[in-house]
Amino acid sequence: MSATILSGKDASSALLASLKDKVKELDPKLVVVQVGNDPASDSYIRQKMKSCEAVGMRHEHIHLPDTTTRNELFDLIDRLNKDDDVTGFIVQVPLPGKLEDAVPDVIRTIDPSKDVDGFGPTNLGNLFLGGEFEAFPSATPGGIIAMLEHYKIDVDGKHCVVVGRSNIVGKPLAVMLLNRGATVTVCHRGTKDLAAQTRQADLLFSAVGKPGLITKDMVKPGVIIIDVGTTRTDAGIKGDVDFDAVKEVASAITPVPGGVGPMTVASLIRNCVRAAEKKRRS
Ligand code: GUN
Repeated sequence: MSATILSGKDASSALLASLKDKVKELDPKLVVVQVGNDPASDSYIRQKMKSCEAVGMRHEHIHLPDTTTRNELFDLIDRLNKDDDVTGFIVQVPLPGKLEDAVPDVIRTIDPSKDVDGFGPTNLGNLFLGGEFEAFPSATPGGIIAMLEHYKIDVDGKHCVVVGRSNIVGKPLAVMLLNRGATVTVCHRGTKDLAAQTRQADLLFSAVGKPGLITKDMVKPGVIIIDVGTTRTDAGIKGDVDFDAVKEVASAITPVPGGVGPMTVASLIRNCVRAAEKKRRS
């Protein structure tokens, strides 16, 4: 057996195409704040700006030097919170050097109605409630769910195993799967026998950032694999899953690159469109 490849390029193109009319009507603007020059952030932000262009969304990349002070960053967040022309904005993480400690305050300070990353406590709390409250799902989990919907993969009644418990992927993803009727196991570095857990999965999601973590002997035949890992190596960007071997036993699998990455970007843009809709209603 060789798995169906779940293409994030196809699924994100479909999602972006479905947003075009709304973008034209509502004319939202997305601002991406970057501090410093993390190479992975450079690449993610380029993809975000490119997708805004593809869908006709106004966008601005504010790129600050890594000498930026905490006060300067919070002054900018304050300005963006107040600027009526800015529909949504994100502060790309990681932040450099001393600013790394400021991330919790950054998350707290962004106006929830503009928090299109869905990282803040208000939007995460809404995610927890599910259903109509899930307006701004965290971008990556939102993109993963959109990909499953694109390929008509229903998680209701399935056993989903999520490896990784970060606030931006693992935890919100587990909640979104739970909201959709899945039985969810969340694994992390403290999990005693990871393979014993992953072998139970009907759907396996890995968001660790450790190439080769998930091997063929750790999955059951027919599993659906969503690889959220993106690690830059000398051999290019690698996911967490030993793709070539695992695709021989899985029924479906996302590639890296070209899987979850483009879905995260499309989901962010969808959140920005939703922010514009919400603003118009208010
Ligand atoms: N760094 C890596 N992924 C993301 C993301 O989705 N949003 C932000 N703000 N930073 C990131």
